[in-house]
Amino acid sequence: MSLRDLTASTELEIGACASLENLENDRFTELLGNEFNRLALENDLIWKVVHPERETFAFKRVDKLVDFAERHEMAITGHALVWHIENPNWLVKEDWRAVELADVLRSHIHTITERYADCIDTWDVVNEAVDDTGELRETFWLEHLGENYIDDAFYWASEHTDADLYYNDYGLPYNEAKQDRVYDLLKDLLDHGIPVDGIGIQMHCVGVHPTPEQIQASIHRFQELGLDVRVTELDVAYHNDKRPNELKTAQAAYYQQTVSACLEAGVEGITVWGVTDDQSWITSWREYPDTYTQQPLLFDDEGRKSNRMRLWHQYSANTEMRDQLLFRIYSISSS
Ligand code: XIL
Repeated sequence: MSLRDLTASTELEIGACASLENLENDRFTELLGNEFNRLALENDLIWKVVHPERETFAFKRVDKLVDFAERHEMAITGHALVWHIENPNWLVKEDWRAVELADVLRSHIHTITERYADCIDTWDVVNEAVDDTGELRETFWLEHLGENYIDDAFYWASEHTDADLYYNDYGLPYNEAKQDRVYDLLKDLLDHGIPVDGIGIQMHCVGVHPTPEQIQASIHRFQELGLDVRVTELDVAYHNDKRPNELKTAQAAYYQQTVSACLEAGVEGITVWGVTDDQSWITSWREYPDTYTQQPLLFDDEGRKSNRMRLWHQYSANTEMRDQLLFRIYSISSS
């Protein structure tokens, strides 16, 4: 049974990210379409890809991924409308006046959200706006536009789409200062009537492995603000110096405890950041390949279900978990 079959009778979404290149691989596309019911666009909607010149949008790649998702009845997450990296030079090298840059940002958000209003039902509107010390991250956007860029981005997105609008960030379950700042930020947005629907907890468990208690506490804290919570970018890796003796077993256990903690806490969905180990960002991002173990996902290089996956299956299929899923559905339908 595939993961999406397992969750078919529930409202739980089980997603994976992909870039257009991944669709050239048959094994990858088969797994993506069969196992998952949500597709997160990994790279093709980031500024430098989708908006390479000031007057040019490049939509072909996104259109192909959208087409794939629609043929496989997958929901789509757009990632990301505002981020501090992966931006084109024409944008970041210019010394903008605030009004002019605000115009550029507004038109970027309007153009993209309007074009995909019928097919993208969830947007990461602002990605990683708080730094690891718990301050607003000193980004190009903050420098030129001030704090209001966050409010504006959500507001502008809401003008052209009915999609759910998310704030997305990493480190939230274990970095208290960051969690507090993100909490204050989102509370403030909500208090001012800014249309924020949810928070994406990225959950890159790369060298840091938050406990189930930490994970659940962070999920509940944001739910208490009235936000939907999703796990948006799950993967698991260990620092090479702290590699567990039985890597696969340790990793499987960690996947199991993490996924079950998230399900118990009532997340809307869980998206893993990739499908097969060999195309995970951890095999290519900065110093990551030399630093961390290289089997972060649910399927190995050959597309075989890894230990982690078998345990996830086993766990999801057991009675206790079914009860939890049913309870969740009951809570949703009775609310
Ligand atoms: C990564 C992609 O997976 C890589 O392919 C890309 O080179 C860099 O970005 N947080 C995010 C994601 O929000 O967009 C990042 O994805 C991983 C960290």
